[in-house]
Amino acid sequence: MLIRGRLLIDPTRSPELGWLRIESARIAEIGTGDPPRDQPAQTLGGRDCIISPAFTDAHIHLPQIDSAGCDGLPLLPWLESVIFPAEIWWGRGHALSMARTAARRMLREGTFNFAGYLTSHAEINREAVAYLRDKTPLRFIVGRVAMDRNAPDELTAEDRARASSRPVPSPAMASLGSNNNHRISANPRFAVSCTDELLAEIGWWHKEHPEAIIQTHLAESQQECALVSELFPRDPHYTAVYDRANLLTPTTLLAHCVHLSDDEWRLIAQRRSIAVHCPAANIFLTSGLFDYHAALRHDIRLALGSDVAAGADIAMPRVARGYIETAKVRRMTVDPDSPIPTPADAWNRITRENADLLGWPDTGRIETGAAADLLVLRVPETWLDEHIVGRLIYNWSSRLIESRIIAGQAVDPAKL
Ligand code: GUN
Ligand code: ZN
Repeated sequence: MLIRGRLLIDPTRSPELGWLRIESARIAEIGTGDPPRDQPAQTLGGRDCIISPAFTDAHIHLPQIDSAGCDGLPLLPWLESVIFPAEIWWGRGHALSMARTAARRMLREGTFNFAGYLTSHAEINREAVAYLRDKTPLRFIVGRVAMDRNAPDELTAEDRARASSRPVPSPAMASLGSNNNHRISANPRFAVSCTDELLAEIGWWHKEHPEAIIQTHLAESQQECALVSELFPRDPHYTAVYDRANLLTPTTLLAHCVHLSDDEWRLIAQRRSIAVHCPAANIFLTSGLFDYHAALRHDIRLALGSDVAAGADIAMPRVARGYIETAKVRRMTVDPDSPIPTPADAWNRITRENADLLGWPDTGRIETGAAADLLVLRVPETWLDEHIVGRLIYNWSSRLIESRIIAGQAVDPAKL
């Protein structure tokens, strides 16, 4: 296969006209200008197309795929009245159809890789994961949500039963982690819904599986932080609760990180854990404005996530826009020195950086030898200038995507 167009190899530079030869699922050759004469039969793209790496979402909840837009509540009451019922619904036999909807929507918006949450129902999650692995081309890291308090029985029963019957259970479904493209993580929901014992068990489990990913939420809303200090009165701060349980590791994804002290940022940096900024969700739930400046000052490893359904948008270019806009709002309000990410930086994060942070350095980039995981974007001719990446971010629509190429194959999300 041959793909022609303006190659978004480095989003800080205007993409130049060129071509990619795809062979055995990888980018075999990259050329500039017009393609060679002896072209393969299948040629995609064209002179006014942009060729970009596909997107990676570092934080999404599949069971919440139909819960976007239920507005008016802050985090904790929103979980109670919107999210827990949706997760119960997933557990009552709807997991497969919801997983399919989520997969279709991600593919439609150009997301080929993600890290996410299921629910606390081990058995039905297993079926959903088998579906995602066998019937979709997505790469993923997903975990069963661990939670044993402060939620309906139907969501906490499995973890409470395990605590009484098996003292050190495997919190994940490790048997499903077949290869690097499909991995199972441990997902303690957050300190509010996990007892000390549950967090500690997962920490011990991770010591035996140091390569495994841990996903959790940290310091998203002030009300949540206040509740955590009541539930864990002996810990100096929220981040210390996870650290004491050995949950701050270089393979830990900490979603949100909105309300952190300097000590907490320092601890996260020291442990090399990854902060996942979810800008759309933070605004939707009025949780707060992520402090990008602090993350830079502390040299934090930073990923971006949609956090569907607190984030209403599954499209990563819209998340990239929220990342830029949050920093702009901070500059206009609380921090006149706040740096503002450029569109190129934002595009890099939703492609290459997110892929690297989730352990997939062979995708999210246009390089020879990289996986041919690409989007062919057809844009108006007038966009082809030095602002192209900003134009893509601020005018994003899935209609811009003409073809989705995964591992060298054209994929149609409607056919899933
Ligand atoms: N904190 C704990 N659970 C959740 C969740 O499902 N969504 C968000 N946004 N925050 C959480
Ligand atoms: Zn979340």
